[in-house]
Amino acid sequence: MTVVKPPGRYRNLALGLLAAGVMAVAGTAAPASATATATDSAAASDSVQASTLGAQAAQSGRYFGTAVAGGRLGDGTYSTILNREFNMVTPENEMKWDTTERSRGSFNFGPADQIVNQATSRGQRVRGHTLVWHSQLPSWVSSIGDANTLRSVMNNHINGVMGHYKGKVYAWDVVNEAFADGGSGAHRPSVFQNLLGDGFIEEAFRTARAADASAKLCYNDYNIENWTDAKTQGVYRMVRDFKARGVPIDCVGFQAHFGTGGPPASFQTTLSNFAALGVDVQITELDIAQAPATAYANTVKACMNVARCNGITVWGIRDTDSWRAGENPLLFDGGGNKKPAYNSALTALGGTPAVKAAANTVTKAAAKTPAKSPASPASSAAALPGSYGWSSSGVLMSPKPDSTHNIAGLKDPTVVYYNGKYHVFASVASSSGYSLVYLNFTDWSQAASATHYYLDRSAIGTGYRAAPQVFYFAPQRTWYLVYQTGNASYSTNTDISNPNGWSAPRNFYSSMPDIIKQNIGNGYWVDMWVICDSANCYLFSSDDNGHLYRSQTTLAQFPNGFTNTVIAAQDSNKYALFEASNVYKVQDSNQYLLIVEAIGSDGRRYFRSWTSSSIGGSWTPLAASENNPFARASNTTFPSGAWTRDISHGELIRAGYDQTLTINPCKMQYLYQGMNPNAGGDYNTLPWRLGLLTQTNSTC
Ligand code: XIL
Repeated sequence: MTVVKPPGRYRNLALGLLAAGVMAVAGTAAPASATATATDSAAASDSVQASTLGAQAAQSGRYFGTAVAGGRLGDGTYSTILNREFNMVTPENEMKWDTTERSRGSFNFGPADQIVNQATSRGQRVRGHTLVWHSQLPSWVSSIGDANTLRSVMNNHINGVMGHYKGKVYAWDVVNEAFADGGSGAHRPSVFQNLLGDGFIEEAFRTARAADASAKLCYNDYNIENWTDAKTQGVYRMVRDFKARGVPIDCVGFQAHFGTGGPPASFQTTLSNFAALGVDVQITELDIAQAPATAYANTVKACMNVARCNGITVWGIRDTDSWRAGENPLLFDGGGNKKPAYNSALTALGGTPAVKAAANTVTKAAAKTPAKSPASPASSAAALPGSYGWSSSGVLMSPKPDSTHNIAGLKDPTVVYYNGKYHVFASVASSSGYSLVYLNFTDWSQAASATHYYLDRSAIGTGYRAAPQVFYFAPQRTWYLVYQTGNASYSTNTDISNPNGWSAPRNFYSSMPDIIKQNIGNGYWVDMWVICDSANCYLFSSDDNGHLYRSQTTLAQFPNGFTNTVIAAQDSNKYALFEASNVYKVQDSNQYLLIVEAIGSDGRRYFRSWTSSSIGGSWTPLAASENNPFARASNTTFPSGAWTRDISHGELIRAGYDQTLTINPCKMQYLYQGMNPNAGGDYNTLPWRLGLLTQTNSTC
């Protein structure tokens, strides 16, 4: 988007047709390597269309995690699967009392730090396991004989461990396995129970809340999956009592160590009954004897069917990594191959398994295709076609002016699907300028009725703020809203659904980088866009003058340190490379997709597209011409007449919500701004509305 455009300046322009591939590339990147791109797209087809557990779970706002044993991180097969499939990590033993405080007051965080640091640097989140548990408890604790000593030791342990990981742990199993098996429904005997009585659990949770208010606090146990079991009922009564009395508890972990039969028939009922108490529910240590595919599918489905079941963790990666190794209970065999249970779990998450079920079976399709490059084990052929067709919704969202916001246009949407909702941020434009708005809704049919929250009421404040981009920066467990203010600015928030939670604007740059000053001409510096890979973050921006700029910083330094600004792409016809660029990672491939808004020969907005094998690399035209556009009125069908001839500034619906901006290349959807073709007048008062394109020519 741009600001203060003179009336009609960009409309009804008579431009010549744009040829594909007119864009030149400059910058610090390695020389253009058409070969690299070609190799990527010719990769083996055995995992074409396949998703991964973590990415697929993220599509519904959930996570998929695994227990990690620090000692196995050096095993290449293990860490490859870990980093490909999982986005939540639980240290299997390294956070337990017998490791973290083997002798009184002397803390040892080395083994857990190794896991936490690796996970965090890869954008995986961490479940902390566990603070108060009768097992793997050093004898100096279990032999304590008086209540006061034990109370202070317990609280000191919680404070010490949670304090060390403050802000780095998504959820803590504060108390583990405190209930007895069998028919009593009572607490089990333990040194904590015996000396401190029933109140030890409550005390542990209260101490934990004070130690790290940002972590979710869970009670975790096994054999509580069957609704009518006395143990389940005992835990349920405790959680109900905690919620009634305001004792801090946020979640219940169901270990889910199942026999060959898998989960009990009532498992989903149990999950939803607990969720109805006002807590999240999570499957925390899943393993199933012999890993029957249906048993895994049933477990995953039970979680998917309960809105507050927000994640699943399996207790290890390969069968040989399992604490129940003799029962082969996991998703990967000892060689790291996907077992049938893997495919059934992925399918239950809504994903598409690889064509080939077992990696060691050579199918005809795989045999015909060239082998994958050994340098890119996780890559697969990108499913991006070379031409596109779309069908558009009608207008889904319109401005909702209020007494203090007189709004003409709703523009520049950015969107993530998180925790069961679409969260949309957009510009609102009027003759008096630009500001930002936020809305959320559970599905597109609800979009029109969503409340619009004006973000000038938050610390973001009033004044020129436009063209937002939202993402979760996993290493900091923080949401970022990036937008233009004349500079490239951002605000942060720990809760995307809280419109008042955004911080005041801060700038990415101290001033406009020189290379932009030298090339911007009469244009405007607009449409900032951040995307990160596993090492670096990149900040793209446009100048309405034919240049796409790119700056870079490290993942560790983000949001600071953006430097090395280069021209990532340029076109001598400024209308062919105008503004509103988006860059995405294509799921399960080594490809990135760039789309840039252009103004066509009919004066209407449309999008061109390119791909690259790295964010900082050279861009190869994909559907990049006016006759073969990425998205344009000419390749879009409308339900009942074209309500717009412009397909303008918007966002693809992502597969996840983090800083990698990953998209699933199947049946893509693009949220865009369009407007009544007959409207005209001052640019800032044009009647922009939001609609959704859905890809019609998807091959998957
Ligand atoms: C297990 C680990 O997997 C083993 O390596 C260790 O020897 C014993 O503990 N419930 C829990 C987990 O809460 O911490 C346990 O993990 C499995 C049962």
